[in-house]
Amino acid sequence: MSKQKPIYVTQPNLPPLEEFYPYLQQIWDNKILTNGGPFHQQLERALCEYLGVQHLALFSNATIALVTALQALRVTGEVITTPYSFVATAHSLLWNGIKPVFVDVDPHTLNIDPARIEAAITPQTTAIMPVHCYGHPCEVEAIQRIADNYNLKVIYDAAHAFGVEDQGGSVLRHGDLSVLSFHATKVFNTFEGGAIICPDARTKQRIDHLKNFGFVDEVTVVAPGINGKMSEINAAFGMLQLQGIDRAIARRKEIDASYRRLLEGVKGIACLGDAGEKVANYSYFPVLVGPDYPLGRDALYDKLKAHDVYARRYFYPLITEFPMYRGLPSAHRENLPVASAAAQKILCLPIYPALGLEDVERVARLIVEA
Ligand SMILES: Cc1ncc(COP(=O)(O)O)c(C=O)c1O
Repeated sequence: MSKQKPIYVTQPNLPPLEEFYPYLQQIWDNKILTNGGPFHQQLERALCEYLGVQHLALFSNATIALVTALQALRVTGEVITTPYSFVATAHSLLWNGIKPVFVDVDPHTLNIDPARIEAAITPQTTAIMPVHCYGHPCEVEAIQRIADNYNLKVIYDAAHAFGVEDQGGSVLRHGDLSVLSFHATKVFNTFEGGAIICPDARTKQRIDHLKNFGFVDEVTVVAPGINGKMSEINAAFGMLQLQGIDRAIARRKEIDASYRRLLEGVKGIACLGDAGEKVANYSYFPVLVGPDYPLGRDALYDKLKAHDVYARRYFYPLITEFPMYRGLPSAHRENLPVASAAAQKILCLPIYPALGLEDVERVARLIVEA
């Protein structure tokens, strides 16, 4: 078999290196490398404007941001969440000594099913942590209604939801806090990075203290905070990335449309639909490989791999299959039939701005000619 160029599930969007040099020069000139320097401040303002949110605190990554968000709201006891996510969602709970309580997902969006939340509430429940999976918004109103009725906090893991809008504006405005990831694999990346979207200046101030060891001033420490600060290099790169973000998302949209056209009518392959968002970010291209397809999901994954196409099974295994979670009563497969079935069928196909139409056609052809 002739060796073709490998196609990975994603490839980071990198502007030409020369464009980054002036930013580096500025850092070298002013010798401020971290601790809320000028690029950090600029990026916080620029992201608030771009995303249409009021307050945002940058972080070194989304995992530390999730851990800090829970601390900021003093969440304890039990938190209701989804098994269908990246492990960091649930890990952020364990890092705070909180017990995750898993509930099943909706079969259409694979986001937490609000109808399952109420039955999982106990006197120990203090919050809900839903995930806007693949950047598709959760049923935010139904979730908020439950939170209001039971006096629960809502922290959205919005790691996938950069730039996503519903009919009322940014999806990040929902809940008490939302957390974005700027990891290399994400729609908007700062190599590593993340942010908490805060509803008001006071909450942002508390979060800013928590991400800097709890320091309020030189001699006052108000909490056992962590080091979650984003460095100036990452923030400067974010400023540069932001210039090309609309183009990057537009290209993702074209790729999404091409896949849908090329895979239309392929028996047993279902492209996941949107969740009614007004502005999508096309962060992933998930398909469900059903029983009508000639190959099982893993056989298709292996076939693609044999042809140097590296799709990924996000999210498989479910979080609840990992040893630190599987002993929990809520982790039993019988409690999670929809998520368990989806984890066996899901395959995320390559999508990133530099992916050419010929690459999309190559991937689709391998699937069509099973
Ligand atoms: C849903 C979800 N939550 C949290 C994270 C953690 O983000 P980070 O890598 O920035 O810590 C990721 C991805 O990496 C994710 O996909």
